[in-house]
Amino acid sequence: MCSVVGYIGKNKSRDTVLDGLTRLEYRGYDSAGFACIDSETKHLVVAKKIGQLSNLKQSLKNQSSDGFLSLGHTRWATHGAATEQNAHPHVDCTSSLAVVHNGIIENHTSLKKILEHEDHAFKTETDSEVLAHLFEQYTIDEKMPPLQAMQKMVEQLEGAYAFCIISEHYPDSLFIARKGSPLCIGLGEGEMFVGSDPLAFTDKTNRVLFLPEKSYALVHKDGYALYDFSGNVLSVQSQIVDTSWIAGEKGDHEHYMLKEIYEQKHAIDKTVRFFQSIHTTIFDYLGITQEELQNLESITFLGCGTSAHAGKLAQFFFEQKAGIQTRCELASEFRHKTFFKQKNHLYIAISQSGETADTLEAIRLVQEHGQATLALTNVASSTLVRECDGFLLTQAGPEIAVASTKAFSTQLAALYWLAHCVAYHKKSISHKQFQESETELFTTAEILENVIEQYKHEIMMDCAPFYKKYKEFIFIGRHNSFPFAEEAALKLKEISYVFAQAYPAGELKHGPLALVDEFLPVVIFSHPDPVIYQKLLSNAQEIKARKGHIIVFALEHQKELLSLAHRAFIIPAVPSLLFPLAMTGIMQFFCYALAKVSGHAIDKPRNLAKSVTVE
Ligand code: F6R
Repeated sequence: MCSVVGYIGKNKSRDTVLDGLTRLEYRGYDSAGFACIDSETKHLVVAKKIGQLSNLKQSLKNQSSDGFLSLGHTRWATHGAATEQNAHPHVDCTSSLAVVHNGIIENHTSLKKILEHEDHAFKTETDSEVLAHLFEQYTIDEKMPPLQAMQKMVEQLEGAYAFCIISEHYPDSLFIARKGSPLCIGLGEGEMFVGSDPLAFTDKTNRVLFLPEKSYALVHKDGYALYDFSGNVLSVQSQIVDTSWIAGEKGDHEHYMLKEIYEQKHAIDKTVRFFQSIHTTIFDYLGITQEELQNLESITFLGCGTSAHAGKLAQFFFEQKAGIQTRCELASEFRHKTFFKQKNHLYIAISQSGETADTLEAIRLVQEHGQATLALTNVASSTLVRECDGFLLTQAGPEIAVASTKAFSTQLAALYWLAHCVAYHKKSISHKQFQESETELFTTAEILENVIEQYKHEIMMDCAPFYKKYKEFIFIGRHNSFPFAEEAALKLKEISYVFAQAYPAGELKHGPLALVDEFLPVVIFSHPDPVIYQKLLSNAQEIKARKGHIIVFALEHQKELLSLAHRAFIIPAVPSLLFPLAMTGIMQFFCYALAKVSGHAIDKPRNLAKSVTVE
C-alpha cells in the first residue's frame, strides 16, 4: 500500500527519505516519488518514477538536489493508473508546494470542481492532487496563515487520509494531518521524521509520537505543535518503540516468504511462551475483567484475508473448548450489515499489521455501539492496538513477504491458547488441561516444521514442475479443514496467479463437481475425526469417478483416501483442532514451490500490497 515519509531538520535528507521508503517497500507499490526544498536554490524539486524504487534512485543519481525539508512516497494506484503523472508528490499550480497522501479523498470530485472554478489547473487523475491546490488556494491565493489553512482543509475533506505538505514559502515547516490512516512523527535531536509507519525511521530514532485520529500538526526541526480538527492544542505522550522491528535480512533464503515459512516453529514457540509469561496478568491485556470473561457468552472475530481464515479456524477452538458461540465476519463486509448489540459479547479483531483499514473501520463501528474490543496483532505500535480496549500480540517478528505465513500460524497458536485460557477461567477445563494445550502447540509446531523437511525436496523437484501446467485448482475440506482449504486457495492465487477455489467438500456435488475432469487437480485436506473422514472419502470417490486428479494431505492410517490420490502427503497425528496448523507449513511450501517454478515475484506479487490501508 502507499507509504509516506517526511523529514525536517539539520541534515540534508534525500538519502534518509529514500532509505525510509526502502524500508517500507515490502508493502507493495507501483510508483515512487521524492520532493525537497533544495538547499541551494530554495525552490521545490520533484522527482517521480513508475515501477521500482530503484528507478527513482537511479534518476536522482544524476541530480544534486537535496534539502533539509523533504518528502517521499510510494504509491499503490487507486484513483488513476500507475503513471509518472499520477505518482506522488503532487504540486500546486505554481509548483512551489508538494503533497504526499495515503488514503482516499472521497469528495475530491466536488472539491476539484470548486478549485477549477478558482482557476486551478489539475494535471493528474488522482484524488490526492486536490490537497496541493487546496493548500495553494488558502495560503497563496487567500494569504491565510498555514495552520488556519490546514484546519480549513481538514474541515472539508471526506474519506481517510494521512498527508504531508512542504512549501518553499515555509522552509522551516512540515505540515501533516491524519484521519483514518496512520501517521507518526519520529522525534530526533534537531531533526524530525514523519512516516506512515515508524519503520520508516527506526534506524534514526525510537521516540515516536503517533498522531491521534483526526489531528494535524506543524512539525519543525526542534519539535511540533499538534491540534485536533477544531484547532485545539493537543498534548500527547510520545512512546519508545521496539527497534527490532527493522526488517530482517533474507539470509540464505531466496525469498522472504521461504524464510518466513521456515521461521514458523520458532515463531509459534515464542508466541506460546510469551502468552505463558503474561498469563497471571492476562486481564491487563484483554480489556475486559475476570467477571466479564466468566460471563462471556459469544465472540465475533473480525479480519480480512488470511487473518479472517485464522478467525474461521479459531471458531472451532472457542466453540469446542470454551463452549462459547463464535462467528467470524469479514471486516470489509461487516460494516455494511445490520448491527445487533449483544450482551456478554466480545469482538476480537485479527490483523497481522494492525493497520488494515477495513478491520479498523469495523472495530470503530463496534466501538460506536459500546461493545468490547480486543486486538490480536503482530505489531505493538499499530493503530489497532491503540484503538481497541485490549490487545494481545503474536510474536512472529516482522513479516515482510506479502503472502502471510508465520503471522497466520502464530494467530492460530495464539487463538488456541486464548480459547483454553477462556475455558480455564470459565472453569470448563482444569489447569492441567490448560497446560496440556500449551504442550500440544509446541508439538504441533515441531510437526509443522518436520513435515516441510520431509517433503520439501519432492515438492520442489517433482511436484512443482509437474503441476506448473495446471491453470486451475480446487481445494476442499470439511469442518475445520474447510477454512484451511480457503487459506490454501488464497495462498496459491496470490503468489502463483493460478486460479484456485475452495469449497466445503459436501458442496461439491451441489455444483462444482461439474468442473471436475482429468485437467483439474482437486486438493483434499483430510480430518482426523473418523466420521468427517468417511464423508471426505466419499467426496474423494466422487472426484475419482469423474477422473479428477487428486492430491491429498492426510494421516498415515487413512489408507483408503491415500490410495485414491495421485499424490499424497502424510501428516503425523495431532489433536484434530490443530490438524490445520500441522499442515500449514507444507501447504505454504507447496504454493511457494508452484510460484517459484513459474518465476513469479513471490515476495511482492503483482497488484498486491502488504498493508491494506484503504477500504
Ligand atoms: C494473504 C494476506 C492478506 C492479509 C490481509 C489482512 O496472504 O496477507 O490476505 O491477511 O490483507 O492483513 P492484516 O492481517 O495485516 O490485517
